[in-house]
Formats: sequence, structure tokens, C-alpha cells
Amino acid sequence: MAETAGRTAGGKAPVNFPADATEVVRRLTLEEKAALCVGKDYWTLRGVPRFGLPSLWLADGPHGLRKQPRSDNVSLAGNVPATCFPTAAALAATWDRELVRAVGRAIGVEARRHGVSVVLGPGVNIKRSPLCGRNFEYFSEDPLLAGELAAAFIDGLQSAGVGACVKHFAVNNQETRRFTIDAVVDERALREIYLFAFELAVKKAKPWLVMAAYNRVNGTYCTEHRRLLTDILRNEWGFDGVVVSDWGAVADRAAALAAGLDLEMPGTGPENVRDIVEAVRSGRLDEAAVDRAACRVVALLQKAAAAAGALAGLDGDYVKAHHALARRAAAEAAVLLKNDGPILPLAPGATIAVIGAMAKRPRYQGAGSSVITPTQLDNAYDALVARVGPARVVYAPGYDLAADVPGRERGPKPRLLSEARAAARQADVAVVFAGLPALYETEGLDRTSLSLPRSHDALIEAVAEVNPNVIVVLCNGAPVAMPWLDRVPAVLEAYLGGQAGGSAVWDVLFGDVNPCGKLAETFPLRLEDHPAHRFFPGGPRTVEYRESIYVGYRYYDTAEKEVLFPFGHGLSYTTFRYDNLRLSAAEIRVGEPLRVTVSVTNTGPRAGKEIVQLYVRDVAPRTFRPVHELKDFAKVALEPGEAKDVTFTLDRRAFAFWDTAAGGWRVEPGEFEIRIGASSRDIRLTATVRVVAESETVELEREPDQREAGHQREAGQAPGGGEDRSATAAPPEYLHPKDYAAFSAGAFAAVYGRPLPPNEPGRRGGYTLHTPLGDMRESWAARLFLWVASRAARFVLKDDPDSPMRRRMGEVLAQMPVRSLVMGGAAGLNRTMQEGLVDIFNGHTLRGLRKLVSGALRRR
Ligand code: BGC
Repeated sequence: MAETAGRTAGGKAPVNFPADATEVVRRLTLEEKAALCVGKDYWTLRGVPRFGLPSLWLADGPHGLRKQPRSDNVSLAGNVPATCFPTAAALAATWDRELVRAVGRAIGVEARRHGVSVVLGPGVNIKRSPLCGRNFEYFSEDPLLAGELAAAFIDGLQSAGVGACVKHFAVNNQETRRFTIDAVVDERALREIYLFAFELAVKKAKPWLVMAAYNRVNGTYCTEHRRLLTDILRNEWGFDGVVVSDWGAVADRAAALAAGLDLEMPGTGPENVRDIVEAVRSGRLDEAAVDRAACRVVALLQKAAAAAGALAGLDGDYVKAHHALARRAAAEAAVLLKNDGPILPLAPGATIAVIGAMAKRPRYQGAGSSVITPTQLDNAYDALVARVGPARVVYAPGYDLAADVPGRERGPKPRLLSEARAAARQADVAVVFAGLPALYETEGLDRTSLSLPRSHDALIEAVAEVNPNVIVVLCNGAPVAMPWLDRVPAVLEAYLGGQAGGSAVWDVLFGDVNPCGKLAETFPLRLEDHPAHRFFPGGPRTVEYRESIYVGYRYYDTAEKEVLFPFGHGLSYTTFRYDNLRLSAAEIRVGEPLRVTVSVTNTGPRAGKEIVQLYVRDVAPRTFRPVHELKDFAKVALEPGEAKDVTFTLDRRAFAFWDTAAGGWRVEPGEFEIRIGASSRDIRLTATVRVVAESETVELEREPDQREAGHQREAGQAPGGGEDRSATAAPPEYLHPKDYAAFSAGAFAAVYGRPLPPNEPGRRGGYTLHTPLGDMRESWAARLFLWVASRAARFVLKDDPDSPMRRRMGEVLAQMPVRSLVMGGAAGLNRTMQEGLVDIFNGHTLRGLRKLVSGALRRR
């Protein structure tokens, strides 16, 4: 067996470990192999000490390192200090692969410094609805943009010898009932929208891990989804790393291993390991599945140990440099939504009223498992005073952050409004900081409206009454409504900008940085306009993805709906001209690359950066397709008067759609329009290419094991032998979404290809380990348990009294099934005890009590 020199995770004593994971696993006992498939505790894995393989530490990200001081710690507070970078929603607005790569690398360096081998990120789930409580942690509504940026992040992180863990695989697009909800999604939406970002990330950047999500997809838990975890992820995309469960996501350990899940996290005691051993001994689980999983975990341990050895010495003093990088990223992420006049950039000598408590207590990161303890924290007020001196700044809080609680808003306070008006009257310009307080958007809960707290809206209106020069700076992780938009000349979307966001805002407002961010998501005019509005968040059992592929701009642009701000929108202090669009050919064969070149000129007075977007439109599709889709993008820096050529190369996939019946990516020969735009609604230039096939056969791209079946179908044969009508059969709602108010159940069932599953609540007597606690209201014992559990969980999170997760713990826990209680800190409650609880909630009290006792004894 080959021996390779490595180092321990702490980077100290060199050890020898076997390079060949299969050989290691061959020498392990069943118990040892099973132990590798389950975490040791909350954050670490077991190593293989007798082969000198050290354990390793996984820690949250993805916007910085969230490492708890102890590996069995469930808390959200007290993390080691780390640089808090802008959240993914903000980073996405940079559309800058290099910058995102640099952020990934910096996080990797910090992880290395703290002995962490894997950072749990990036999150690449699609923003299906603007209301998902975790949108701040995801990149975009567009899978190409999300996948490209995720790949860049992974590349950067892994270049520092730290593994990335892409999450949450897959179709995890809401927080409501996230532990149990069944996402009912048709195959085209799955492939073209929800899996595509993962596919890009996996194929381009080869992450060390992929995290299987909590929810179900089309009836099966992601952690047990053989088709997702093995057929698609491994066999089609070639993923060779470890699939880890989201924390507490495993419903059935044996089924999960058999389906392709390698590692269950967190580890909660000896019972998890015993379950696996017993499943093998009883014949329920093939030992080969355990071998495969153990082998991948050993390979991960080897990779981590080798990286720790190879990259020792990376860790200089990074704190200042990383803060500067966080500031640059925040400035590049800010999106100038509106600038009438133009009122911005600010005049150097202006007096400024800073209004809004968020200027002093910044909202700079999202709430939940991604919460970072920053190395330092800039606030906008201090940053401004440091820049221009106190004499030119007045401040008023405008609203009371503590008073705004979703569902219990107290509204504007007259005294705070009149103070704000008085401050605004004294100054040349009023910069109002408004946004979503952490309680409004947090992991674990979705938003129920697009609105800012009423106190923030009222403040903006009040200030606009007394000073025409109002600049609104928004601090939020997802789109909001702006009822006051017509009354203010300027709006800067600063997102959740990380620990340096407070300084970066002024870099942009004063023009040191010319704004260059563009929206990676559509800001709708009204919630009712949103295609998923009536089908989000669904429940109690299923959520139907009725809009299919019409997500974000794909819907708005196809249905020609007015929006507040379109996908890709963002202003600059300079102007750009687009001209001279050239295609490498007027006609290409299917699969032949097409080169697209366009010239962009900075026609204004300042240096600036422009994000050039390339959309493709199938001119006469035979099936339903969005009016256009983003297929590439580039960010160009231009001095005043400078012109540059931007060249894109489009491959076969840029023209393809997923053909469900045939099981592959189909390109329909015909005309395609190449659209170059400054946003999805600001197309500057177009050109047409004809795509031809050599014969009338359909071009399919599929993996070798599917080819056989596919070839039969190329002659027009459906799998059952009938005619292949997949490319033409589509209900009118999908062919012409503009003419319909919504997608009906019948039409969706046709697109889905089978009857829609029932969506009934569980009833007492039929409660299971998977029934959310809040759904067991018929049982007084369950109600009492929920009450006690909320209090207990609040106690566990006592170190962080203001944490939104803690303050809204009752709502969070109500969505949790008994089997996931480990997430609330109830690690001691093993599976037998959990079953006992469910028996009690179903009214079988004695049987339940017996199980509770026997479960407790099993723990020994
Ligand atoms: C989240 C993951 C996170 C994990 C560990 C889960 O609840 O969904 O994103 O990495 O907890 O904190």
C-alpha cells in the first residue's frame, strides 16, 4: 500500500497514512466502517487512528467561517472571530467570478488557520420566490449565474486546501416545513432550473462534498433519493466526493446509505452507528453500500490531511487584508437602482443627515446557521463621521429596531419621525438607511410579504416631505416593495454587505467606487405578480412548482409583466454604448460552438465597469420556452472613452432544453436570436443564428448508460414504443403564460406527467416521525411537548438572546418533525425514544413510555 506524508488537521505532527482509501476500508471492521458514515459529534468526523488518519472539522459558512469553540456545540453565538463577507445575495450582484473566487479563497485561508477542513457552502438553491427566508444565502433566480458564481467560490475556497460543500441538494427553495415538505416539480424545471446550478458547480469546480437537503423531491427525501444522489450526481455529472446530510436530515439511515448518502451529520451517539451495523446484519442493507460510503469518507480524510500538509504556511496575518476585501466586495455588490438628477455621487462639501437606526446598528448578515462573529464591524454613521468630520453630519434613528417584530409591528413612532424630519431639514441631503431587520428574514422561516416594516416606509415618506434630496440605502437580503419610490430621487440596494458594508456604502455614494452591481433577481411590483405566489410555500405535505421553468425573469419577460426592477438592472455614474455585434457564423451545426463578440464603450466622464449579459431566444420553439434565457455574462472595466471587445463562446447547451420523454438535452434546429443586454429588459443588440442538424434526427446529450434507450427514441419512439410527442405537447398556460392568470392544477399535472400527489394533513393516530410538531395539534401531549421544547431550545441558544432563531423558536420548532429534534439541541433523544414520543402523541401512551425507557437504556 502506498504511504503518503501528511499532517494532522491542526497542521502539527506529520503522520503517515495510506493513500488508497479502498485498501484502508478493506482492513476495517463493519463497526469501524459504520462509524465513518456518521459524524463523531456536531462538527467533526471520526478519523481512522490506527491508520494515522486524523479526524476533521466541518464548519458553517458560507459568508465567512462560523466555527464554534467546541465540536459538540449547537449554539449560534460565540464563534471564533472571522471576516464576515457580503452574503451570497450581495456577492451575486457583483456578477464577478474573480472577486467571488477571491472571497472563497480568503474564507479558505481563515478556515485553515482554525483547523477547519470543510466549509459548509456555497448555497446554490434557486430563488424561486422572493419570500424564501434564506434567499440572502443564495445567489440568484437564474441557474447559470448561480452555478458560475458557486463554481468560482468553490475554486477559491479549495485553492486554500479547504473543501467546499455545495448545499442544499436539491429543490430546497423555502424554509416553511423545510424538514418535511415534498417539492412536486416537473422534470424540465428540475433539470433546467433547480439542478442546473448544482450541475455547473459540480462539473466546473469539483467540490469535495455535496449536502443533501432536508426536503423531499417528488415523494422521496433528498437524503434517500437514489436518482438525485447516485444516478444524476455521480453517474451523470461525475461527482466523486462525499454526500453529507444536512444537519438532522436523515429520515432512514439504511435507505440513505443505499441511495448514495455517505455521511450523516451530526453524530448524536452510538445508536446511529449501531443502526447501520444492525441493518447490515439483518440483511436490510448491503455491506457494499457501507463500504462505498466509508471509502469516500476515508478519501476525504486523506485529501484533507494531504492539503493541510501541502499548504502549511498560508496563514499570514490576514485580518486587515480580508476586511479590505470584504469592503471591496460590498462596494461592488451595491446596486444603484435609481439616480434621478442625477443626485449621486454626493457633492464633496454637502451636509448629510444620516437617518435610520440601521446606520448605527447595521444589518450586515443573515440570521441562522450562517451567522458569523466578525473580526470588526463598520457602521455607516461612524464611517461617515470619520470621512467628513462630525460638523457635516446629523443623525436621527427614525425607527426603533426593537419595536419591529413581524406580525406584531407597532408602526411608526411620531416622536422619531419628527426628529428625523428636523434632521433632514438641516442638511443638504438625507441618506435614509432602511431594510429588513433580522427577525424579518431568517433561516427557518419564510417572509409573508414584500414589505419593509411600516416604520421604515413611513420614515422614508416623512423625510421626503421635508427634503427633496433623499437617498434611500436598503439593507436587506431579498427584494422588497418600495411604495415611496416615486418620491425619492435615489435608491441604493446595499444588500447585507458584511462587516465592511458600513464603509463601502460611502465609497459608492461619494463615487470613490463607481457603482457596478446589477440585480441577480427580479424585484416584482406586487407579490400577486409572482408566478409562484399562489403556490408558495404550499403545505401541509406538498408544494407544487406549478410555474415549472417560469422562474423569475423567465416568467416576467415571457408574460410581459411590469416589474419594479428587472433582473440584471443596475446603474452607473457613467454610461456605456454597445455596438458592433458579430457572430462567428450565420449558421452552425448542432453542437458546433458559436462565438459572439460585442464592443462596449465607456461614453461617460468616469471610469466604470459594465456587466454585459448574453441571452438566447429560441425564435420558434415547438414546446414551451421562456422568451429568453441568460447564457453568459462578462464584467468589463473601462476608462472614460475606452472601448473593449467582449467575446463569448456558446456551446451546445446554450441552445438546448431538457426533453423529458427522451431523457436528454435536445436542440431543435431553427433560428435563435442572440441578445446582448444591460439587463433582461434592456436588450441593446440582437443577431440571429441558424442552427442546423445534419439529418432530421434529434440531437440528445446523455450519459453512456442512457444512450441505448435514447437512440431508439431518436427515430421518434417513446419509451413505451408510441410516438414521441414530448416536444410539442404542452398546455396553453405554459405555451402562452401571458394570457393566463395562473397555472391550473390540470395543466400542471400534464406538464408533471402524472397525477399530482395528495396534500392532506396528518391526523392523530397517523402521526409519524416525519409529522411536523406543529401539525400534531390534536394531541395535547404534542402541544405540551412543543411548548417545553421551545423553552429548552431557547435555553440552548441562551448565549445569543437576540438571535432571530431563538426569538422565533416556537415557529421554527413547529415545523420540525420529531426525528429532526437534534437540530434544536435534543441530541440525547435517540430514534427509539423519538418513536416513543410519536406513540404518545398518537394516543398510545403506555407503548410510548416503554419505548422512551428502552431507548434511554440503549443509549448506555
Ligand atoms: C443548515 C445548513 C447548515 C447546517 C449546520 C442546517 O440547518 O440548513 O445549511 O450548514 O444546519 O449548521
